[in-house]
Amino acid sequence: MCLRLVLVQLLLLMVANAALTTTQLAQRPKPADSPDCLRKCGELESIPYPFGTEYGCFLNKDFFINCKYSDNKPPIPFWGDSDIRVTNITMDGQLQVQSNVSIDCYDEKGNKTLITASSLYMDQYTISDTQNKFTLIGCDSVGYIQGTIGKKNYSAGCISSCDRLEDVTNGSCSGFGCCQIDIPEGLKGIEFQAYSLNNHTNVSQFNPCSYAFVIEDSRFNFSSSNLSATFTETVPTAVDWTITGQGKCEEARKNQSYACKENSDCYEPGDHSAGGYLCKCKDGYHGNPYISNDCKDIDECAENANICGPEKYCENYEGGFNCSSSPTAVKKLKFDMIIIAYVPIYHRDIKTSNILLDDKYRAKVADFGTSRSIPVDDTHLTTKVQGTFGYFDPEYFQSNQFTDKSDVYSFGVVLIELLMGQKPVFSTVTEEGRSLASYFINSMEENKVCDILDAQVKLGKEEEIMVMANLAIRCLNLQGKQRPTMREVAMELEGIRPQEKNK
Ligand SMILES: *[C@@H]1O[C@H](CO)[C@@H](O)[C@H](O)[C@H]1NC(C)=O
Ligand SMILES: *[C@@H]1O[C@H](CO)[C@@H](O)[C@H](O)[C@H]1NC(C)=O
Ligand SMILES: *[C@@H]1O[C@H](CO)[C@@H](O)[C@H](O)[C@H]1NC(C)=O
Ligand SMILES: *[C@@H]1O[C@H](CO)[C@@H](O)[C@H](O)[C@H]1NC(C)=O
Ligand SMILES: *[C@@H]1O[C@H](CO)[C@@H](O)[C@H](O)[C@H]1NC(C)=O
Ligand SMILES: *[C@@H]1O[C@H](CO)[C@@H](O)[C@H](O)[C@H]1NC(C)=O
Ligand SMILES: *[C@@H]1O[C@H](CO)[C@@H](O)[C@H](O)[C@H]1NC(C)=O
Ligand SMILES: *[C@@H]1O[C@H](CO)[C@@H](O)[C@H](O)[C@H]1NC(C)=O
Ligand SMILES: *[C@@H]1O[C@H](CO)[C@@H](O)[C@H](O)[C@H]1NC(C)=O
Ligand SMILES: *[C@@H]1O[C@H](CO)[C@@H](O)[C@H](O)[C@H]1NC(C)=O
Ligand SMILES: *[C@@H]1O[C@H](CO)[C@@H](O)[C@H](O)[C@H]1NC(C)=O
Repeated sequence: MCLRLVLVQLLLLMVANAALTTTQLAQRPKPADSPDCLRKCGELESIPYPFGTEYGCFLNKDFFINCKYSDNKPPIPFWGDSDIRVTNITMDGQLQVQSNVSIDCYDEKGNKTLITASSLYMDQYTISDTQNKFTLIGCDSVGYIQGTIGKKNYSAGCISSCDRLEDVTNGSCSGFGCCQIDIPEGLKGIEFQAYSLNNHTNVSQFNPCSYAFVIEDSRFNFSSSNLSATFTETVPTAVDWTITGQGKCEEARKNQSYACKENSDCYEPGDHSAGGYLCKCKDGYHGNPYISNDCKDIDECAENANICGPEKYCENYEGGFNCSSSPTAVKKLKFDMIIIAYVPIYHRDIKTSNILLDDKYRAKVADFGTSRSIPVDDTHLTTKVQGTFGYFDPEYFQSNQFTDKSDVYSFGVVLIELLMGQKPVFSTVTEEGRSLASYFINSMEENKVCDILDAQVKLGKEEEIMVMANLAIRCLNLQGKQRPTMREVAMELEGIRPQEKNK
């Protein structure tokens, strides 16, 4: 009885909102700094805090991205005041920059025509040891690299040679025309140089130059064509960033300037001597851990409707989610959600998990994440299909046109879900992933609806159940035009309400 009371209450109150009112739509997280911060520059699509392009928008000068403008060209992002171009920033502690190739060239006579040395100095940033390799290309070549690891000096090099172009193997950088060495952990302030052993005597026809560079391994695949005189002047290099100057996590936590904000954790990305730390949102949260209150709970249930499988109900909570097998497991409404403006909207994602009950069993419709307000004289919307599998209006699916009747269809699914105590997509002994709607319609056609009702619903009055069942069938009509309006649905349900009022 109690269940039935809840059920009818729930339906009535939902439908009473036929012209649904809108909630305050989720507000975009504000940056830690000014909301006016420019967070992209030319091809660099995203410049997340602690990085920034203007004063007030970055954590400190180590994270300053200098967005340089020139006439008639897209702006170019550089690291600080250097001429090091930044091409990607990741929140897990990496910066992709363009670094110069060192070139050493000769003519057929063995006279030097060009030599350039290269370097990459980026203060506390270290050359990523996991992403890069020092690489040398040439058939008469020596390459060397030097830098510092903490207080130690580091230098290393390799030799590559070949007598004929046929000796080199595409895709293989193992000494014939190409050699590579690993980057040690914690390396910074590097200089590197390509040299020749014999002025490219006897090989200048197919390889006049040697090239030395530090490149992201995944971005390089040696080919014999790289031995020719045309070679790119800059290559992508990954450097590691951390928050420095406060020690590692344990020490930094005590510092006033500790960078990890609410719902985030501190971690040390490597063992390298540069020290420092990074922040990341706790499990079950996403956002920018360096911005106050930006790590927000992930609604796993909304992100992946099937996360609990077809037969279980998903329940989101702060920092995680639960899968439970008991059906209409009704969520309690949290009062962060206030109805403010009386604009009619299409909800577009009506489903049981979006219907919340407060402690007096009053129903509220939640999650307006996919909803749209509609201009008064507009009768349909053309949109990318959104919603939840199992509740979709099949007409909307085909036409991409969301009408006021699409919510009615979803509501029909909610009705039968309540009547049958089943998820909208469920499995039977013989079939997997069966749609509840088609199963219900078949049972109605075969007059077998009593067999499929939820045991608790069966305790109710048969006429009332049949009113609801017939109403559901009309809501599920494949043709939107044939479906009742939400107001009509409300009126029919109102018909079975007086009895409840006396309770
Ligand atoms: C790369 O080489 C160019 C040309 O020699 C030079 O102007 C530039 O400063 C170099 N860039 C870096 C990051 O060393
Ligand atoms: C930047 O790096 C991320 C992570 O490695 C990658 O997914 C993304 O595609 C990169 N963006 C560009 C423009 O290279
Ligand atoms: C190298 O260049 C110098 C000056 O250009 C020239 O005098 C010399 O003959 C050249 N050497 C060879 C082997 O061509
Ligand atoms: C490292 O190299 C620099 C320059 O060559 C030198 O001045 C310094 O003494 C060296 N440091 C150590 C620890 O050898
Ligand atoms: C290696 O690749 C280049 C193109 O990148 C191609 O021209 C050449 O024929 C290839 N060599 C072999 C042996 O497959
Ligand atoms: C590198 O190129 C060769 C052919 O030139 C190809 O067979 C190989 O799969 C490539 N490797 C990668 C990692 O792309
Ligand atoms: C390379 O060229 C230089 C002058 O450009 C010359 O002094 C030297 O002997 C040459 N070395 C070899 C191995 O040919
Ligand atoms: C160049 O080729 C000639 C003839 O094969 C050979 O005598 C000479 O040693 C070669 N020079 C080098 C530097 O390999
Ligand atoms: C090496 O050669 C391949 C094949 O021609 C080319 O795609 C690649 O850009 C070259 N690598 C560099 C660093 O120039
Ligand atoms: C705390 O952090 C600030 C800013 O990074 C730094 O200057 C200071 O030295 C740190 N204090 C301690 C005790 O590490
Ligand atoms: C998740 O489910 C478990 C087991 O049913 C329960 O003990 C726990 O309280 C639930 N957690 C939340 C936050 O609902």
